[in-house]
Amino acid sequence: MKEIGIQIRKKQAEKMRRYLLKENLLIRDFKITRDEGFVYFPVRNLPKKNTSYKLVKMDFEKIKKAPNSYKEIAVIPEELKNKLPTSYDIIGNIINIKIPKELMQYKNRIGTALLKANKSIRTVCATTSITGELRTHNPEVISGKKSTITIHKEYDLRFYVDIRKTYFSPRLAEERRRIANLVRPGEIVIDMFAGVAPFSIMIVKYANPRLIYAFDKNKDAIKYALKNVKLNNVIDKIEIINADSKNINRILDKKVVKVDRIIMNLPFSAHKYFSHAMKLISEKSVIHYYAIIEKQNLDERLKELEKIANENKISFITRKIRKIKSYSPREFYIAIDITAKKKDADVA
Ligand SMILES: C[S@@+](CC[C@H](N)C(=O)[O-])C[C@H]1O[C@@H](n2cnc3c(N)ncnc32)[C@H](O)[C@@H]1O
Repeated sequence: MKEIGIQIRKKQAEKMRRYLLKENLLIRDFKITRDEGFVYFPVRNLPKKNTSYKLVKMDFEKIKKAPNSYKEIAVIPEELKNKLPTSYDIIGNIINIKIPKELMQYKNRIGTALLKANKSIRTVCATTSITGELRTHNPEVISGKKSTITIHKEYDLRFYVDIRKTYFSPRLAEERRRIANLVRPGEIVIDMFAGVAPFSIMIVKYANPRLIYAFDKNKDAIKYALKNVKLNNVIDKIEIINADSKNINRILDKKVVKVDRIIMNLPFSAHKYFSHAMKLISEKSVIHYYAIIEKQNLDERLKELEKIANENKISFITRKIRKIKSYSPREFYIAIDITAKKKDADVA
């Protein structure tokens, strides 16, 4: 079916385009057309503007719109569309999505729709929740290339990640940046559960620490952490150590004189390593302790941490709690920033 359009001389076209936009007369689903001397605008009504134009009926080319959301193009029963997840993680060029059980039979169609709607994505993975000590996902490639290795960009940094073998959450980017902002020049920082080293690298790039010791017991995480310190040119400021943090005191005993800051990002079990962190404090240190916890259990956890501190002759000077994100309907991912000092240390 032919559309109504107006033909106007090239010289007057820009003025007319603005007028049509202002009056909401331009049909934006069709392409504006041009020839040697004229421009043709598809319109829903004729302009009242007193400019010489000619009314035409012609075939305007339809503009192909990219879908706003993968939900629009996913080929699944209409009544299930409201179950499609609204959010998912983008790690480099991989989408990692938690698909509800009742939609798993359509997982490949969902993957195809996500690939179509996100031009920069190469692989779509369906993921279960993060499991085990090493906090890895259990991703299944449901569309696109089979590789789970990618390079993720955040704040001008680049991190190699294998989402099958290492933990990585793009949702912690702002938290990493916040911590980097707190680090003062010359600090010695311990990253007890470093993963592929995003906290450590962010700190070196955006603060000026003396040295960071980054621990992880996962060999694969260490492999990627080493690649990442090279990739981001911070190799002289970060020492990567493949070890269990329960051995941290023995390993660091001869190396470190004074620890200024300790990052404990192992949100389900960091409390089990808190005594090791306390033993690293020689005068005063800041601890960034992370937990995934229900609100009702928070007080008890804080008491437990203070008890462990006391047993190690450490007292808390300040303690600030921040919610980072919701984790499940009842659990929160929280950061507790603790300033702690040795009880006999003469520091403010
Ligand atoms: C939640 S991830 C955090 C990784 C990293 N901080 C980040 O933000 O991406 C926890 C990391 O701790 C490591 N891990 C678990 N238990 C450990 C232990 N006992 N000693 C050292 N690392 C451990 C896991 O391998 C994992 O890489």
